[in-house]
Parts: sequence; structure tokens; C-alpha cells
Amino acid sequence: MCGIVGYIGPQDASPIIIDGLRRLEYRGYDSAGICTLDGGETQIRRAEGKLINLENILREKPAVGSRGIGHTRWATHGRPSEINAHPHKASNIIVVHNGIIENYLKLKERLQKLGHNFSSETDTEIIAHLVEEYYRQCGDFEKAVRLALAEVEGAYGVAILCNDEPDKLIAAKLGSPLVVGQGDGEFFVASDIPAMLSHTREMIFLDDGEIAIFTPEKMWITDLSGQPVVKQSKTITWSPMMAEKDGYKHFMLKEIYEQPRTLADTIAGRLQGEEGDIYLEDLGLSQEQLASLDKINIIACGTSWHAGLVGKFYIEKLARIPVEIDIASEFRYRDPIVTDKSLTLLISQSGETADTLAGLREAKGKGGKVVCICNVVDSSIARESDGVIYTHAGPEIGVASTKAFTTQLVALYLLALKLGRARGTMTADDCREQVEALLALPRKLEETLELDEQIEQIAREFMNARDFLYMGRGNQYPIALEGALKLKEISYIHAEGYPAGEMKHGPIALIDENLPVVVLVPRNATYDKVVSNMEEVCARGGKVIAVASGDESELQGKVAALIKVPQTTEDLLPILTSIPMQLLAYHIAVLKGTDVDQPRNLAKSVTVE
Ligand code: G6P
Repeated sequence: MCGIVGYIGPQDASPIIIDGLRRLEYRGYDSAGICTLDGGETQIRRAEGKLINLENILREKPAVGSRGIGHTRWATHGRPSEINAHPHKASNIIVVHNGIIENYLKLKERLQKLGHNFSSETDTEIIAHLVEEYYRQCGDFEKAVRLALAEVEGAYGVAILCNDEPDKLIAAKLGSPLVVGQGDGEFFVASDIPAMLSHTREMIFLDDGEIAIFTPEKMWITDLSGQPVVKQSKTITWSPMMAEKDGYKHFMLKEIYEQPRTLADTIAGRLQGEEGDIYLEDLGLSQEQLASLDKINIIACGTSWHAGLVGKFYIEKLARIPVEIDIASEFRYRDPIVTDKSLTLLISQSGETADTLAGLREAKGKGGKVVCICNVVDSSIARESDGVIYTHAGPEIGVASTKAFTTQLVALYLLALKLGRARGTMTADDCREQVEALLALPRKLEETLELDEQIEQIAREFMNARDFLYMGRGNQYPIALEGALKLKEISYIHAEGYPAGEMKHGPIALIDENLPVVVLVPRNATYDKVVSNMEEVCARGGKVIAVASGDESELQGKVAALIKVPQTTEDLLPILTSIPMQLLAYHIAVLKGTDVDQPRNLAKSVTVE
């Protein structure tokens, strides 16, 4: 959601910024813009639509200069258009912004009374005018930014230039992510790491309320009152290649195929086979604390929420602790019960989802312990949690989450095993058995990926359906939800996930020969029941795409398509049955010609409420 890139140094800023914005495309956007400063001249270029439109403009009318800021905008206030695209300018002040200014109407009214005229419908333009107003009064760029931001309520990541002080670039953060890259005699600032990885690996993660001021030679960070803040830089180990497509047609496909490796990375170093235990390096909870928990609240959004639904099965089964699970935007407003004996578990790929972060703060404010399962190292959610289980999936660029999901399931399983051991609901032998199953999983996932060609054929057969139904039972029900979400997200086909046992309470009325029904029916405790549910669909002419494990010859002949994933334990089957869900959605989307990696209206990281 909105991407920011800023540069100050000896090089031409424009290509660096455009390259950075391209690497932030995954965040979702509907317009883009850039501003460079060149010898006192402000050069702003903006365009609606994809970056290519902005590049075409730049080809005709280059933006030159070695200081610059750029932006990809995901519309909140004001429709997507060139006029609403960032950067926004008020006299000598130029701003790009990610977030939402909540008191913008009040500020706008005040500024209008002072004679400011606005040309866009955005909340961002208010920041430019407010800084400009203070700059006129005090003649000091840094001070003017501080005074202006002190009045802004809401969320922001901003990068600001001043035409009268062209040797300074200022960035500030409150709520929206912002990372600083330190080069040799040059500085970068961006919403996310991949935007700068080809230039530097030395990064500083700004915290809320911090302002970074850059000149080509040096950088300093202060709080909003101007007090210096000392921060350590971190060396990022992701290689730029890890953020590239690696020869795959889409990031999503590459990420689907990475899963055998990413699962192995999530497990690496954490299985203590001999002791029959699990090691979670940054969990931040002692054995005693784990043993005395009386409830776990899981909070997440989107795909991460689906992972949480599976996690509830894992934790309740293996550690016998009651688990409540909430969608983050619901949790924060329902006055949840959080005690010092309960644990709040956030799940987030990006670690920046605004509602999940707000849920974390709500739980912390009530005195509860907070742990997260997160992919992005040092993200806001990771930093504010008492403990963290990193999924180590590497950068996930495709908007539709794939490898992040399966690694979240593995992380949840590791946590459930750890809790089970700490609470005595599992013996060392029980744990060892599960560890063995986990160790075999990456290989089984590789086998599952061999289904790709078959699934592409199935996609051809069903790509023109108007609706899809997905059904599963027990820990396969969340996978039905995830399958339906994947299809909706990238192919724009309406799809619903349902618990198979609920079919008779409504959805069965929808069944006819035009409705494909994906039935998750691997060998588990409810196999026979799901087969009955499936027969009911077949009896009404429904077209069943069955996802089974092992050789279910009895299903052959009854169903329109039979996809067979390898057999593993009942707990780990959701990880394998997720793969056909991802591949089916992917191939249908490719056949329909949609924008697979950046589906319309969606953002990778939803950093506003
Ligand atoms: C957006 C993304 C989804 C993701 C959800 C939660 O909707 O498009 O893929 O599942 O946010 O994101 P998080 O980073 O918190 O897991």
C-alpha cells in the first residue's frame, strides 16, 4: 500500500527512484510520481496507472537532479488520478506520503483561512502546506517539518524536500513503515527493504515519532521535539536475487515453487530431535510462562487469519490450551478479555498490517504477553512484540500470499509442539514423532508441486465458471477458505469456502452443473463424512474437484477431477493441500489474463485501517 523511495547523493536520482518504486510495485498502487531537485528547479512528473506511464513521461521530459523522492499511490482520499498522485507541492515544499491524516479536514480549513489553495483531494497535500506555512514563519526546513508533524494526527511515512534547502532530504514515520539505507556518500529511504537492496544492505528501521534528516554526507535522527535519537544499523542478508523473479513468469509462481526450501528454512535449527523438544530462539517466554498460560488469542488478517484458524487446531490438540481467534479489525473494537495469564499471538507476513498492529497494542495495553509469527525481520509488529517466531520465508512479492502461509502453518505447529512439551500434554516421544513428520515435509511438498501440469489442465476446464465453492472439514476448512480467497484475489471469480458439514444448511441450494466444487478430502478422521458431503454434491449434478491424499480409487469416476497429494500426518496435511489451492488459482488467473502479481484494488501490506 503506497510505496515511498527517496535518494540523496552524487548520482542521478530518477533511475534509482524508479527502480526502487518498481520493487515496491507488489504493495499495490494506482498512480505514481517523482520529484527531483536540480539547481533550485523542482521537477515533478506524475501519472495515473502503472509505472510504465510515468516512465513514458520521464522519457519525454526527464526529471534530473541528484536529490529526489518518488511514490506509488494506493488511493484513500481522492480517486486515482494524476492530480491526486504524489508528490504534492506547496510553494517550495514537496511531499510524498503513505498513511492517512485523520485530522486533515480541520487542518485544511485552518490553512485555507491563512490563504493556502489546494489543488488535489488528498490528505497528503495538507502536510506540504503545513510545512510550508511553518517554513515561511521560521525559515528552517527541519524545524518546520517538526512543527508541522506535531500537529498531524493519524499515520504517516513521509519523505520531504525543500527547494530552498536542496541539500536536505527529510523522512519521518508514525504508523507507516520507513527504512533508511546507508550507502557510501549517499542515502536512501523507502517503505521496504527490496527498494534499496541493489544499492546497500546497511539499513536503519525508523520507529514511530522519529525524523531522519539526510544530507549527501551525513544523516541524523531526532524525535519530534528535536532530541537526538541514536540507532544501530542492521545488515540485511537477503540478496537482491531473492527479490527477483528468478526466471519464473510471475513472483507468485516463483514463491509457490520456493515452498520446499522455505519450509526447510522455517524448521532449520528448531527441531531438537534428541530431546524431543522444539527450540524457538526469540520466543521471549520461559518454560514456566508457557506452562501457566490459560488462553491464547490469535489475531491476524487475510491469509494470515486462515493460518491462525489452522493454528487453533494445532494448539488446542497438542497443548490443550483454549484458543480464541479474531480478525484483527474485529479484535481491537470488541473490548477483548486479556489477562496476564493469556498470550496474544499475532500472525503477519509483513509485520506492518495496521489492524494487526493495533490489536497488538490493544493487548499490550491490557497487560498481556504478546508474541508474533512474522516474516519481515524488524517490522513494526516484530519490534513491538515481546517475542517473535520468524518464518524465514524470504521476501514475498506476489500480493496473493503463498509461501508466507505455509511457513506460518509450520511456525504454528512448532509453537504448538513447544507448548505441548512445556505443559506436559506431549511426551518427548510424541514430539519426536512429529519432528520426523516435519522433516519429511519439504520432500513431500516437492512431490506435491509435480501436480502442477494436472492442475493447469483442470484450470483450463473450469476457468469460465462464474462461481466456485470450496469445502473442507476440521483443519481442512481453513484451507477451503484460503483456496476461495486465492481464487477471488487473482482471478476475480466469486468463490466461497464452507465447512463441508454445513452444506445442507444453505450452500447445497447453489449446486448445479455449472458450479465447480473443490472438496478437500484427504485421509483424516473426517474422511468418510466429507465423502458423504461430496456424494450429495455429485447427486445434484455438481462438478467436484476432489483433493485427496493417497490412492482414493473409490472417488475416481464420481468426481470431475481428482488431485492426489502425498499422505502425511493429519496435522500436516493442510500444508500439502494448500498447494493445489494456490496452483489452481494461479493457472485460472493466468488463463484469464489478469494481473497475477498485482491484482486490482489489492495491496500487499495494508498499512491503513
Ligand atoms: C493483505 C494481503 C494479504 C495478506 C493480508 C494480511 O490483504 O493482500 O495477502 O494476507 O494483507 O497481511 P499480513 O502482512 O499481516 O500477513
